[in-house]
Amino acid sequence: MRPLVKLSLTAVAGAMLVAITGVEAHKAITSQYTYNDDVFPILRDKCGRCHMEGGPAPMSLLTYNENGGAVAWAESMREMLISEAMPPWYADPTGPAVKNSHALTPRELDIVVTWAVGGTPRGDGTKALAPLPAPAQWTLGEPDLTLQMPAEHTLGPGVIDDSLEVTIPTKLGEAKWVRATDLLPGTPSMVRRALIAVENGATLAVWEPGDEAIPAPGGSAFHIPANAVLRLQIHYKKPWREEQDAKSDRSTIGLYFTDEPLSGKDIQAVTVNGPKDEGDALQPRVFTGTMTAAGRVLALRPSLDQPYGSLEVTAVAASGRRVPLLKLRAPRPEWPRRYWLADPVELPAGTTIEVTATPGDLDSGPLMKPLNFPLQIALDVVPQ
Ligand code: HEC
Repeated sequence: MRPLVKLSLTAVAGAMLVAITGVEAHKAITSQYTYNDDVFPILRDKCGRCHMEGGPAPMSLLTYNENGGAVAWAESMREMLISEAMPPWYADPTGPAVKNSHALTPRELDIVVTWAVGGTPRGDGTKALAPLPAPAQWTLGEPDLTLQMPAEHTLGPGVIDDSLEVTIPTKLGEAKWVRATDLLPGTPSMVRRALIAVENGATLAVWEPGDEAIPAPGGSAFHIPANAVLRLQIHYKKPWREEQDAKSDRSTIGLYFTDEPLSGKDIQAVTVNGPKDEGDALQPRVFTGTMTAAGRVLALRPSLDQPYGSLEVTAVAASGRRVPLLKLRAPRPEWPRRYWLADPVELPAGTTIEVTATPGDLDSGPLMKPLNFPLQIALDVVPQ
């Protein structure tokens, strides 16, 4: 009897296997879009700078199903795209245009979602895919000055995230004008975001993985005094596949110099701070600041204390005329950035800067209130 029983068990297991693979194989392919022809180029251009092998995101989306790959993440991708949680890009297309948008176009969104729910077809597997994004490199070419972190920073096994703040002397014998600042991560998979500033001076860059450094427009520049010291803040976070490894990073700042602007004036920050008392995190907040001098607004840097449903910054002239400066949809504190306006805005002295922030889904992720309290909006302005 025994062999018989064994045999029938094997037969049952075999039948189940057939059934399962049968279901998989017969999942209807309804998508006219395929990975190789349609989906891969979108994932490469809009997700690949993070979702690449060795990148900061937990998985590569740049293979079909080798080493994980896009198929295994199709449902998760659909969810993240529909909820606009990925890619981390918050500028609302109905607001003022900002430079270097990472948003998917409606057509790109349709292609990826149709593919994800429509059987995830591969297409012609023999077709060569277009080149992958370049690994971390200087996006504006070799900088005029590079400044490396004084020492490696290590996250031991089991340490998942950590913040570091270091000062780095420039040792520049004379004052300089800076048109752009970039960061070259030493270990790209763990460098999640960075802030580069002159000590007691200008914020030179708000850096996120794979982003191109954007030069200040129209010959404008940041001023750094002779012998300036730079302050580098990095937030490290390991992707889950590396959580048990010890990982070290030693990143490098790159500065790009330029001539003194014709006006002789540097880019300065005008800050508008939210209310000091925490208030009710669930209530919309409206608060204002004033431009004490006339100036041209080049960029805005929101520093969030919590996720918001929406965030709008509007300039209100004495006449009551309203000029929108920034409109964000569901911004999250984990992904801070400097939004460079596609069209800088001239504002007269006395203009009111009005900020309206509606609360977002507070349960959707860790709050980072202690890091950035209160909510602050900084405007990068060239005084007139
Ligand atoms: C700037 C970097 C970056 C870009 C660009 C980006 N992602 Fe992500 N993505 C991440 C990180 C980092 C995570 C891990 C979650 C976290 O720690 O915030 C993630 C998580 C995800 C997840 C969930 C993984 C999980 O563990 O459940 C999906 C799905 C995803 N991304 C899809 C996309 C798609 C699709 C795109 C492009 C349209 C994209 N991402 C663009 C960085 C990025």
